Amino acid sequence: MTTDKNLIAAELERTRARTALLTDAVDDDDLVQQHSPLMSPLVWDLAHVGNQEELWLVRDVGGRDPLRQDIDHLYDAFKHARRDRPALPLLDPAEARTYVAQVRDKALDVLDRVRLDERPLVDGGFAFGMIVQHEQQHDETMLATHQLRAGGPVLSAPPPPPPGNRRVRGEVLIPGGPFTMGTDTDPWALDNERPAHVVDVPAFLIDAAPVTNAAYLEFIDAGGYQDPHWWSARGWAHRQEAGLTAPMHWAGEGLARQFGQIVPLEMTAPVVHVSYFEAEAYARWAGKRLPTEAEWEKAARWDPETGRSRRFPWGDDPPGPEHANLGQRHLAPAPVGAYPAGASPLGVHQLIGDVWEWTSSDFHGHPGFRVFPYAEYSEVFFGGDYKVLRGGSFGTDRAACRGTFRNWDHPIRRQIFSGFRCARDLL
Ligand SMILES: [Fe+2]
Repeated sequence: MTTDKNLIAAELERTRARTALLTDAVDDDDLVQQHSPLMSPLVWDLAHVGNQEELWLVRDVGGRDPLRQDIDHLYDAFKHARRDRPALPLLDPAEARTYVAQVRDKALDVLDRVRLDERPLVDGGFAFGMIVQHEQQHDETMLATHQLRAGGPVLSAPPPPPPGNRRVRGEVLIPGGPFTMGTDTDPWALDNERPAHVVDVPAFLIDAAPVTNAAYLEFIDAGGYQDPHWWSARGWAHRQEAGLTAPMHWAGEGLARQFGQIVPLEMTAPVVHVSYFEAEAYARWAGKRLPTEAEWEKAARWDPETGRSRRFPWGDDPPGPEHANLGQRHLAPAPVGAYPAGASPLGVHQLIGDVWEWTSSDFHGHPGFRVFPYAEYSEVFFGGDYKVLRGGSFGTDRAACRGTFRNWDHPIRRQIFSGFRCARDLL
């Protein structure tokens, strides 16, 4: 299905529309500003997306001459830290828009002429899928920048759906035994999702839904941020040093900042903007722990009837609006219970969409991992100070989210759309 060139072109188009929406929402002064040292100016993301598209699709796949080799170093994420990017001689907003449009014209021409069975890089449309996903990932990063920018609202979206009729609460027992983790067959799966391999996971309990604002508030009200007992040594040191007292963007009195507006916290929705250390402390306070990555994936993909691993909790079909809160369709996590059609066969809800979920696992390659197509995508991060997050958020596009998709970040980070659910061993 992904080898269909019209489909690939439609995905490139759809993705660019989102990028345009996020960058056209503010004026040029705003585009070149740095809203947080954690983030790039939006104009950097824009031209970086075009530069990666030029490198991979125009130069590598297409074998064409470079458009702007002179700017490659400015948009190489490994050469300049985010905090240093505003001082670089970047393309200005008009130049950046022209550049990405020129690159896109050439990339579409390459798509038109390339044979998609020619070599592994383009097999199943992979290189095009990689570039679509890369741009979508930056669209999520840009959404996080929007969340950090000062000033009034410039983005709008309808509210997420209501919780539905069935109450979703408590824990779900995931029986012990082997399941297939990762994939060999998803054409757009990235190297770190491969290969498929069997993992034996002992029986465990996992929360039927992510931890809500209401539940997290109980932890705060119980003095959770004042009691080192619940925190790891590193987590407590960070809590003190950073002065953490609540999730990022909480504004006190049951309110939170949401894309330039102060809104009441939706108590039945998953908590968002928490670090790994906060998630870990909450879990210990609740008498639980975070799930491992393998536990999370088994809960999300394992079908007890067939023993097979699905692409998504609901099956192999791509996510529709009835399955999950993805794609910036809404600008907040949805209340728990809002997506009954997206539940796993065992009844675990909202694994996909709403909030990225912290797991207790460090980021490593699956057994049998092979770099493809370049080490800087995943391999250079293996073994670093990263925890794996799973499932995607309301800011993640459906093209950049699967039951096998892996995200990773430093345990102190919380400007991302991160939440969590808890698990525990069988007693
Ligand atoms: Fe990038």
